[in-house]
Amino acid sequence: MQDKHDPWRRVALALAFFTLLPSGAEAGDVTAGRIKAVAACNVCHGRLGIAVMPTAANLAGQSADYLTAQLRNFRNGKRQHEVMSVIAAQLKDGEIDDLAAWFSSIQVEVKEPAKPAANP
Ligand code: HEC
Repeated sequence: MQDKHDPWRRVALALAFFTLLPSGAEAGDVTAGRIKAVAACNVCHGRLGIAVMPTAANLAGQSADYLTAQLRNFRNGKRQHEVMSVIAAQLKDGEIDDLAAWFSSIQVEVKEPAKPAANP
């Protein structure tokens, strides 16, 4: 994100601001995570964790351990992405736990494709 006029930068900074607002949440609180996601995540990851932006990941039903690990990796630089690194940098441990609790609590159902590939 070299260009300071890059629109993603503005989105990321605006969202980073929201993530700084105190949530008053307990660690791993689904409701607190849902509230936080509305302000900070849903514009890309969708209201129920199915991404609305093609390059963002679906988070619905993902394991809390995986979500927590990825958010910590973005935060500590082990994993890097121009948007997620900025967003995760603003998250406190408890907020990461709440967000992971919320997205992992969403139930997902999988189905065979309409025209399934042959069984291997
Ligand atoms: C401006 C768009 C945007 C916003 C807002 C955003 N994300 Fe992301 N997120 C992305 C993109 C794009 C990726 C894919 C990163 C990559 O390619 O490595 C991603 C990846 C992730 C991943 C890794 C998923 C995986 O399968 O490894 C997690 C976890 C995640 N985001 C959580 C969040 C949470 C929680 C929030 C809110 C605090 C949030 N994101 C806000 C765009 C966004």
